[in-house]
Amino acid sequence: KTASIVGCPFSGGQPKLGVDKGPIHLVEAGLVNQLEELGWNVKFDGHHQFEDIKFTLSSSSVDSAAPTASSADNDTSTSNHWDPPIGILKNPRLVSRVCEEVAKVVSGHAKKGELPVTLGGDHSLAMGTISGTLDAHPEAGVIWVDAHADINTAATTESGNIHGMPVSFLMGLDGNQQAFSNFNPSPSSQTPFAWIKPVLKPSSIVYIGLRDVDAGEKKILKQNGIKAFSMHDVDRYGIGKVVEMALDHLNANNANPDKLRPIHLSFDVDALDPSVAPSTGTPVRGGLTFREGHYICERIWETGALVGLDLMEVNPSLEDDISVKQTVAVGCSLVRSALGETLL
Ligand code: ARG
Ligand code: MN
Ligand code: MN
Ligand code: MN
Repeated sequence: KTASIVGCPFSGGQPKLGVDKGPIHLVEAGLVNQLEELGWNVKFDGHHQFEDIKFTLSSSSVDSAAPTASSADNDTSTSNHWDPPIGILKNPRLVSRVCEEVAKVVSGHAKKGELPVTLGGDHSLAMGTISGTLDAHPEAGVIWVDAHADINTAATTESGNIHGMPVSFLMGLDGNQQAFSNFNPSPSSQTPFAWIKPVLKPSSIVYIGLRDVDAGEKKILKQNGIKAFSMHDVDRYGIGKVVEMALDHLNANNANPDKLRPIHLSFDVDALDPSVAPSTGTPVRGGLTFREGHYICERIWETGALVGLDLMEVNPSLEDDISVKQTVAVGCSLVRSALGETLL
């Protein structure tokens, strides 16, 4: 069994610097060794740099005064002049191109029978990871563990931060097409997101941990009948029951009931309570406990159906050193739990 670490130091889906350092800290904390100790053959050929993408975008920019990409680098707090907002969406071309590359990498690993473990970086990257997983395993379902639903469309987003939108693009929700055609009256101009196949059916995703869902997102979840277990449900049923219900939902209309559908687990570290994982860009109180977070990972591993894993939104530039160490350590241990570490 081989796990492929896909390190994605990328922050363009949101404005806070530092989330691009997340994967570097997770690897420096010893994640590769830890997984090897669990018996995995671990492939890690360095973090992806995405420099070529920035270079191509900046040099194909209409603005000939474009400086080289390096001067703009990871500073996504301001928009790059070579990637102006579309509507209010920030860094749309960069986010899209990076995710397109991540999709190829993840799908390549998955098709070789490896388990891709993508370390973010911000959660916009899930457009890449889930596209990649579904390319290799079209019948896969997604378990999305997060404080947020990340399902805003270009029509509903209030922040313009694309890390709050990946699920809407993966589903090809109408709000995006409509909004983009309003921004862009010329029919020949494609949106940068045109490469994303709307491969994720509303019935193929289940959320766990939600507690900060925008009004527009609540509507989208209802209208599309998307299954979501909020923190209210975790309180009510307990995490054990919630995970069983989530698995049952994904397998409800399984064509082959003897075999569980493959599962892609996309884990935003902000699903955990800020007392457990403080160093993240959009913390929300009232989150999962240390054990609840780990239980989700352990139980999914136990199904034997895991085919893709994301660990997103660890930001080592936020909060003090102790908080950063704690958040990075929790990140590593979530990954270990999802890859088979047991308590006994
Ligand atoms: N719903 C908010 C937005 O659209 C917050 C999203 C936070 N997403 C995340 N991946 N941390 O901006
Ligand atoms: Mn690789
Ligand atoms: Mn989140
Ligand atoms: Mn998220």
